Amino acid sequence: MQLDVVTLFPEWFDWFRGQRHVANAMAHGHELRTLNPREHTPLSGGQVDDTPFGGGAGMVLRVDVMDAAMRGFYGVDPVDLRHQRRVLALTPGGRMLDEGFVEELAEEPAITLLCGRYEGFDERIVQHFASDPVSVGRYVLSGGELAAMVVMDAVLRKLPGSLGHANSAVEESFSEALGGDPEYPHYTRPAEYRGWKVPDVLLSGHHEEIRQWRRARSRERGAAGTSGSSLP
Ligand code: 6GU
Repeated sequence: MQLDVVTLFPEWFDWFRGQRHVANAMAHGHELRTLNPREHTPLSGGQVDDTPFGGGAGMVLRVDVMDAAMRGFYGVDPVDLRHQRRVLALTPGGRMLDEGFVEELAEEPAITLLCGRYEGFDERIVQHFASDPVSVGRYVLSGGELAAMVVMDAVLRKLPGSLGHANSAVEESFSEALGGDPEYPHYTRPAEYRGWKVPDVLLSGHHEEIRQWRRARSRERGAAGTSGSSLP
């Protein structure tokens, strides 16, 4: 998969690229490129954003700057680009990312992620250059960069090669193998710590009982609407 990120802060992605599972994915032929609109802006002084019409706080990424940057990078009109590859605009008002959406994205050969900064994008960027507005939750981040990393992390771990163990992504939270429920709890050594014991069934060696126990815990968590234990 080819992942392109349009961002005013490409250096943020140097750290992301260095993470083991991301580096593994790259070694398997997946690609992560960044494009900085500031390097393509037709405006003087590297200007990329402007004050909002109608007033209000903050700065908004300009549509003409995004147009020039994307056109310069891809050599096509961004209005047409979104018919050639998924172009995600990261914005808190977008379609909520969930496991189904992630699986859908993991099928794509190429994705472009547009990161807004400050108060976000000129709305015409979302309307005319994006195929999908995407949100990673009902809260506001100061920019799309962390959201882009969330999307890419979730997508990359679906691809062959990024996880050490081929099955790691199969029977995990919200997967088909678990009927869409969160994952069951995991335990490792020591079998007892400060009096807290690992459930006996996991030490029993009875694979079918272990499978049933895990499925039941997974269902419980799904019904409770939480994937973690609640604090006492
Ligand atoms: Cl995609 N961007 C920003 N700035 N804030 C968010 C978000 C995205 N998703 C949730 N909050």
